[in-house]
Amino acid sequence: MGIEYMDMDHPIHSRKNKHLETCLDRSADIESQSSHLSKIHILPTAFPECSRASVDTTSSFAGSQISMPLIILPMTGGTHLGRQLNEVLYEAACECSLPIGLGSMRALLEGSSGRKTFIPKRKKNTTPIIANIGAIELKRHSIKHILHCCDELGADVLSLHINVAQELVQKGGDTDFSAILPKVHLLKQESPIPLLVKEAGFGIDPDAVQRLSEIEVDYIDISGSGGSNWAMIEAKDRGKEISPERVEFFRHWGCPTGTLLRLMYEFSQPRIGLEKEQPLMQSSLSLGSTRLVASGGVRTVHDMAVCLASGASYVGMALPLIRLAAESGVSGVIAHLHDLQQGLQDAMLVSGITKVADMPTCITWCDADLEIEVKSLLAAYGRRKQRHG
Ligand SMILES: Cc1cc2nc3c(=O)[nH]c(=O)nc-3n(C[C@H](O)[C@H](O)[C@H](O)COP(=O)(O)O)c2cc1C
Repeated sequence: MGIEYMDMDHPIHSRKNKHLETCLDRSADIESQSSHLSKIHILPTAFPECSRASVDTTSSFAGSQISMPLIILPMTGGTHLGRQLNEVLYEAACECSLPIGLGSMRALLEGSSGRKTFIPKRKKNTTPIIANIGAIELKRHSIKHILHCCDELGADVLSLHINVAQELVQKGGDTDFSAILPKVHLLKQESPIPLLVKEAGFGIDPDAVQRLSEIEVDYIDISGSGGSNWAMIEAKDRGKEISPERVEFFRHWGCPTGTLLRLMYEFSQPRIGLEKEQPLMQSSLSLGSTRLVASGGVRTVHDMAVCLASGASYVGMALPLIRLAAESGVSGVIAHLHDLQQGLQDAMLVSGITKVADMPTCITWCDADLEIEVKSLLAAYGRRKQRHG
């Protein structure tokens, strides 16, 4: 695919295009070290007692059937290049029946880009489209205006991203993150479409997950570290304007997706035979009807399978897919998505599972260092609870 960097004049467009340029450069150092997903394992089942053909990877998202529980995460739009890449991703999403996220619609909200720079006219199919906006925009724009823009994009779901670390590194980024949660609550009450709240690669902690599920947010993408690091991407944009000390801090910031997922898993498990540890683990998590998405460094079939086995209803992927869209076009993205779906089918069969909804019944274990990490986090939560109630 020929890449055209046009529309560089507007500050938002020029920043978005620079982000894309950085993300598409495979030699750029923009990924956090490890998602720790490779440290989680599923116990094989020697007698699955079923055929491969009977293994069903389909799931549903926002009322539509999808071919597997994978979301193409929000990435781009609002510029000429963004639209080109979204066209490729949308075509592949339609072909593979998968939900697709659009990048932040801030430019649409501010009137500097139109709908057409995000996505081609909606096809007559049921591929769910996810509109996206930074939670911080709730301070600047009315809920009515935000919902109007979702409508314009034909969105089935609205995703709000929380990106405190990214804002701190971004030139002119926001620094006031007060009173966001009540606004998220209001938005949830007024939105006619489901609400998804996500991070962008540093992780949503269990307390925040609990608070978001209490206000009945439909989907929470825990989006841990181990994949794209948005502080590093912003830092590349700023070059020498930002001190190496600040950048280094954020290089190692965040909770790996695997750690976060296992922590959440432990919190939501009934505690059997662990009486001695009970006081440390009382802060149990209740998600109600909220469904969890796991993303941040999800790269392989193994990553997908262990996320689903650890309690996520969906996984999400961003960077690998936009790189493929730019390098190999629609056929390249479709081929990769097809491989992932086939791989998930294999993973389910060897785990003795025929339906995605049964993935959490898999027996899983973690490498010792991850086990220790999760235990020490659980103990820290317990100590805080004992001290502060
Ligand atoms: C090129 C690019 C642009 C992105 N733009 C957005 C965005 O506008 N809004 C958002 O919520 N997340 C955005 N993200 C973050 C992703 O949705 C995702 O949370 C993050 O990249 C971690 O997933 P990964 O490790 O699979 O890349 C973007 C990611 C990429 C690679």
